[in-house]
Amino acid sequence: MDRLKDRVVVITGAGRGIGASCAKSMAAEGAAVVVNDLGGSVDGEGSDTTPADEVVAEIRAAGGTAVANHDDVSDFDASEQIIRTALNEYGRLDCLVNVAGILRDRMVFNMTEAEWDAVIAVHLKGTFNTTKFASIYWRTERQGDYRLINFTSVSGLSGAPGQPNYAAAKLGIVGFTYSCANALGRYGVTSNAISPGAGTRMGGTIPADRRRALGTDPNRSDDEMSPNNVAPPVVYLCSKDSGWLNGQVIGASGYQVSLFNQPEPIRTLQGKEPWGVDDMWTHMEKQFKSAVEHTTIYTSRAREEQGN
Ligand SMILES: NC(=O)c1ccc[n+]([C@@H]2O[C@H](COP(=O)([O-])OP(=O)(O)OC[C@H]3O[C@@H](n4cnc5c(N)ncnc54)[C@H](O)[C@@H]3O)[C@@H](O)[C@H]2O)c1
Repeated sequence: MDRLKDRVVVITGAGRGIGASCAKSMAAEGAAVVVNDLGGSVDGEGSDTTPADEVVAEIRAAGGTAVANHDDVSDFDASEQIIRTALNEYGRLDCLVNVAGILRDRMVFNMTEAEWDAVIAVHLKGTFNTTKFASIYWRTERQGDYRLINFTSVSGLSGAPGQPNYAAAKLGIVGFTYSCANALGRYGVTSNAISPGAGTRMGGTIPADRRRALGTDPNRSDDEMSPNNVAPPVVYLCSKDSGWLNGQVIGASGYQVSLFNQPEPIRTLQGKEPWGVDDMWTHMEKQFKSAVEHTTIYTSRAREEQGN
């Protein structure tokens, strides 16, 4: 019950879904939690203080410690207030968990500039915004055992065809996480990403055939797909005990918790002089084709299964 005792956590997008589950689990383990949520619709329209306030009320009713914040993570100045809420209320910040997210799905050829910008603003810029202000504090304090946890998605890791904005933002978050892992370690900060799967209002928008193409059983029960099942690895990552884990992507979906590999060359053509165009015709297909056929990226075969 006390695995996060004396830890102060900021969780964005914690009024609903996975963020709310993480907030409640962390509070149950003794953390003081800033529950941030703008409270808009799944496509990012509007705002409502109720979701964050209800999660805070639930945590307090269970004997935990929490305070609400209703700022928009895509707003640079407002993001400073999210971090300041932790410092003003609890005097410190140990963990930042960037969960907030929206969807505006469209095939790339139909996508509007506004749909692209809105999704990039909440996911990619929003993750930068809060991290920037948290990292200023961590770099000044240097007390160690700080944790940055960002949320990515199989959509980015596998290239969901109808989510070019979301996929780009979510894989951008992985690059951002790797950068922070390399940059902030010296200040006692670990940086990792979670790739979740859960039956939330957002998770419910993924069609069954796409889930099948991604290798997950679309018929998993509501119990298995509860967002509560994403919380345990996130709670572990927030603890002081996870200091050995840095720069990694952890999958958390249903009853599965996974460690992803990191992109690295799997075949290399090493020349002794510049390669010519004719050489590419000879060697690219010969050396790379058999390797590509075994990659797990969203292949043409998977697309065929989806009927596109
Ligand atoms: N559910 C899944 O299967 C799944 C899969 C892959 C990735 N994810 C990621 O996990 C995270 C949580 O998703 P979820 O399924 O719980 O979604 P959700 O819609 O249930 O919750 C997201 C929360 O973020 C809040 N939010 C949105 N924009 C915000 C903003 N600008 N500022 C502050 N709060 C904002 C919303 O109000 C909402 O409460 C997201 O980053 C999502 O991309 C979810």
